[in-house]
Amino acid sequence: MITKPFTQATRIAAGNDRLRYDALEMSFHWATALLVVAQYLLAQAWGFLQRGTPVRLELQSLHVSLGLLLTTVLVLRILWRAGPGRRVLPATTGLVEIASKLVHYALYGLLVAVVGLGACLRWAKHDPLSFFGLFTLPSPYSFTKDQATLIGDLHNWVATTIIILAAGHAGAALFHHFFLRDDILWRMLPGKRARRAERDSPDPRIVPQEP
Ligand code: HEM
Ligand code: HEM
Repeated sequence: MITKPFTQATRIAAGNDRLRYDALEMSFHWATALLVVAQYLLAQAWGFLQRGTPVRLELQSLHVSLGLLLTTVLVLRILWRAGPGRRVLPATTGLVEIASKLVHYALYGLLVAVVGLGACLRWAKHDPLSFFGLFTLPSPYSFTKDQATLIGDLHNWVATTIIILAAGHAGAALFHHFFLRDDILWRMLPGKRARRAERDSPDPRIVPQEP
């Protein structure tokens, strides 16, 4: 009879043990999700306020500071993913795998675009690109008024697209979890329950990360 440790060892030897994201990737993922939602809600909130009011300006400064935080998380995440981060095996196959990869890459691309446009927008409006008042990044370029309008529109469109795509992406993850009852959501969740679900999974590729 083949023992469990033996089976696990052969799976690991076959490079088949990578079905869960590592802790750092999970932290980056949930920090990104939180920041993106916060950024969108902040922009909606100041939309109700009169132009030039102190609260509106404060909300916009907060949006920019959190934007710089999001930029940092995004850069670290991309470096981690391209470098030492755990390579996970695809959770699905065929067209679903292609579609989910496309959505993931689109989200990365749009996030890079939105932070770049956000920074340019702040500079184009001649407002400080400051991180909670601790430091300010100077503008490398002098933007015209027309460019400012274009950048503002693009920032808004890209931001809205991210929200729509992320909502679809989250909806798909929840659909897998509650209706298809597979392990896709657990791959991005920390904690004992996630590890137990992984251990009990009928998927032969899944191997526990910890005892
Ligand atoms: C603005 C919000 C979000 C963004 C920008 C986002 C972005 C991403 C990206 C880029 C990936 C691919 C990770 C990689 O392989 O490099 C990913 C994976 C994942 N996300 Fe999100 N996400 C968001 C919100 C959510 C929410 C709310 C959920 C759950 C309800 C969720 C569940 C997942 C899961 C389960 C995976 C792993 C999918 C797999 O294993 O193939 N995400 N997310
Ligand atoms: C996913 C992240 C982000 C989302 C969802 C988002 C969303 C938005 C939205 C919806 C607006 C309002 C646009 C309008 O009403 O025309 C806005 C404005 C703005 N955003 Fe972002 N944004 C994000 C990231 C950033 C970043 C990273 C920065 C800068 C570092 C930034 C800087 C700005 C600026 C300067 C404005 C214009 C504020 C003003 O009217 O003076 N945003 N953002």
